Amino acid sequence: MPSLNEIRSTFLNYFEKQGHSIVDSSPLVPRNDPTLMFTNSGMVQFKNCFTGVEKRDYVRATTAQKCVRAGGKHNDLDNVGYTARHHTFFEMLGNFSFGDYFKHQAIPFAWELITKEFDIPKEKLYTTVYHTDDEAFEIWKKVGVPEDRIIRISTSDNFWQMGDTGPCGPCTEIFYDHGDHIWGGPPGSPEEDGDRFIEIWNLVFMQNEKFADGSMVDLDMQSIDTGMGLERIAALLQGTHDNYETDLFKALIEASANATSSDPYGDQNVQHRVIADHLRSCSFLIAEGVLPSNEGRGYVLRRIMRRAMRQASLLGAKDPVMHKLVPALVQQMGVAYPELGQGQALIEETFEQEETRFLKTLDRGLKLLDDASGDLGKGDTLSGETAFKLYDTYGFPLDLTQDALRAKEINVDTDGFDAAMKAQKEQSRAGGIGLGEAADVKVYFDILDAAGSTEFLGYETEKAEGQIVAIVKDGAQVDTAVKGDSVQIILNQTPFYGESGGQIGDTGVLTVEGGAAKITDTKKVEGLFLHLAKITEGEIALDAGAELAVDHARRSQIRANHSATHLLHEALRNALGDHVAQKGSLNADDRLRFDFSHNKGLSGEELVKVGAEVNEFIRQNTPVTTRIMTPDDARAIGAQALFGEKYGEEVRVVSMGRAPTGKGSDGETYSLELCGGTHVKQTGDIGTFVILGDSASSAGVRRIEALTGAAALEHLETEAGRMADVAAALKAQPVDVLDRLKALMDERKALQNEISNLKQQVAMGGGSGGGVETKEIGGKTFLGQALQGVSGKDLRGLIDAHKQNIGSGVILLIADDGGKVAVAAGVTDDLTAEISAVDVLKAAVPAVGGKGGGGRPDMAQGGGKDFAGADEAIKAAEQLLEG
Ligand code: ALA
Repeated sequence: MPSLNEIRSTFLNYFEKQGHSIVDSSPLVPRNDPTLMFTNSGMVQFKNCFTGVEKRDYVRATTAQKCVRAGGKHNDLDNVGYTARHHTFFEMLGNFSFGDYFKHQAIPFAWELITKEFDIPKEKLYTTVYHTDDEAFEIWKKVGVPEDRIIRISTSDNFWQMGDTGPCGPCTEIFYDHGDHIWGGPPGSPEEDGDRFIEIWNLVFMQNEKFADGSMVDLDMQSIDTGMGLERIAALLQGTHDNYETDLFKALIEASANATSSDPYGDQNVQHRVIADHLRSCSFLIAEGVLPSNEGRGYVLRRIMRRAMRQASLLGAKDPVMHKLVPALVQQMGVAYPELGQGQALIEETFEQEETRFLKTLDRGLKLLDDASGDLGKGDTLSGETAFKLYDTYGFPLDLTQDALRAKEINVDTDGFDAAMKAQKEQSRAGGIGLGEAADVKVYFDILDAAGSTEFLGYETEKAEGQIVAIVKDGAQVDTAVKGDSVQIILNQTPFYGESGGQIGDTGVLTVEGGAAKITDTKKVEGLFLHLAKITEGEIALDAGAELAVDHARRSQIRANHSATHLLHEALRNALGDHVAQKGSLNADDRLRFDFSHNKGLSGEELVKVGAEVNEFIRQNTPVTTRIMTPDDARAIGAQALFGEKYGEEVRVVSMGRAPTGKGSDGETYSLELCGGTHVKQTGDIGTFVILGDSASSAGVRRIEALTGAAALEHLETEAGRMADVAAALKAQPVDVLDRLKALMDERKALQNEISNLKQQVAMGGGSGGGVETKEIGGKTFLGQALQGVSGKDLRGLIDAHKQNIGSGVILLIADDGGKVAVAAGVTDDLTAEISAVDVLKAAVPAVGGKGGGGRPDMAQGGGKDFAGADEAIKAAEQLLEG
């Protein structure tokens, strides 16, 4: 029986033999689509190839693509665990043609692969075509599918689109009949939702494009996009109709059963299925840097995580378990997807933290849910407000609440939930936007087509000549720009670094004969370097030769900061552990910022250690070297790569520092990172490094800000100056400042205690205590006293002291507490059955303008605002006692 890993290879190798390039899966967080939350099919990375906007050096491709369907147009979350074939994460195998072959070749390819390579019996197969697609119908007939097994479908099931906009087209699907022992009917029949007839492959004939206004046009090219769920085909080839009974899922389900000490295949199987599925989607998302949060992608992740955790708790787990399953997943999928192994520490830690947090509120939330739904029965609806409270206070995502009520067939008022949510946070908009390219990239693709990408010369030089290939003004190409204009200038080559990988863009000057421009920033879009220019002199025209000069001083500082960031990254990993992964960085001219995954603030000791290690490698002053290699080779020698980052065919690997236990092919390189940025020649060029501080950037992510070179020295000098001033004020040597401060703090504390004691003694009527006059009223000892300069919070202690002194009696204290009046009443325990301190208090406070107060029979406290009424208040208490 072939394993999942083998089936994936068979598919890719078949299409490679048919002239297709095997292309890596693109990230789950799409890089080229600002409207899509997650990559939901193989075609996403090729979206612009179908519309013709983007050209690649191949016209046939094949992929195994990581997909998540847990939000947006294609969402399978609710079905997971309850059917044999739905997943939040799955792999889609696909073959693609970009204006090359079309239906006549795509159908025979598919037929040959499944009936010959996979050897699936023909009599088990059915196909569907879009109802008007006679051509596809005829091709299926020709390859040998009997007419009564080619079903015409008129619904959107046979018209595929990725989202609301983008390339789309009619499709044809291949179904497998798992046999009449399983319930279900053929496509188009009323029983089609059963598990008997399962769609195994969808071939889309890409020929249309949809726009946001709902209109649809024919594309110039006819292309092919196909998708076959690896998990489904694996089930079939392993002789089961159930994806969860394939080799991979069995291993994950067993891990889940072990971790929860439960039966993998008994009644608890549903729980294990959900856990196994969600383990995959969450792990892959975390490996790409998505972290649980309350917004956008992070929130979808949190929902999936908590859904799995609730299942674990149903299995009886009291402590976090999800992180314990990660090794099994890495074992199963780590070879095909190395990001899993490299992100393992982060994945485990993120699971454990989230589960710990969730378990804290789970029980209380479930109790609230029980109480709120106790009177509800089948068909009833839980209010949206309760569902929102569960979300807001107990961290229950809506779907988790729905899931928990599912068995009792109780609905949730989702409109009410939405309204409550909306009212609470208007500003939380989906995070699915703003990550892709600007919507209007067409002008740049046009330039790219006509002129090719910009060659970057800036690793070697800061001055060079280039030819102007395009000028863009207000989003459109123009031929000339004159003094005063703000434009983007694109040249065939440039020494200006375009902002990317955290390093800011260069600034400088561009001159042509008869004109000049100030370059205020440089950006990078699809291989084009856009020089943001303000024309300062004359005119600049297309095709002109230009001289380009980068601002040298600024660039040198940027270089020092960027190289220091690499050293910092390594030093952090050494000090804190391998879970430290880069989450973001800024390499500017005046400072550097580095965000990394870590859960708690760094101690002073850790900060000193990290800073010292970076400076040690600066002083080592070894050359910084750059090599170009394939991403695989780079990973093989242990280079740090940023996951979710799309790397090309070739990557630059930057090495610095020598360490006996380092990495690299020599085993001695201290820092090794995939990086396209510009760096110093020798580490000594960084000068010096100083950490300004460590702060929280977002949940689970810390941020370090630091300085290098002259800025670092200046900072140290300023700090030293300030320290000298402080020392002078404290009359101490700078080195003794801390000790001196500590001594002063201790002294201050001792004085405060002394003052507090003295105040009490004064209030008690003198140094020896017991000097306050008492009266006998109604057979009880009464002590009433108005006090100046005693604070309300000292009254309780005073009452206790008085109680001790008088042994038995009633006490009323009224204190002028800086504008307010504090009142306290006390009754010794032997008398509380006869009179309550609360009543004494209530009798007294009106006279000082107070409204009430409260407490217990032996001690009550309240307040007022008019200390002049203190004597009257004491009288009122006396009257109460008399009565
Ligand atoms: N893009 C098509 C699908 O996802 C192949 O079904």
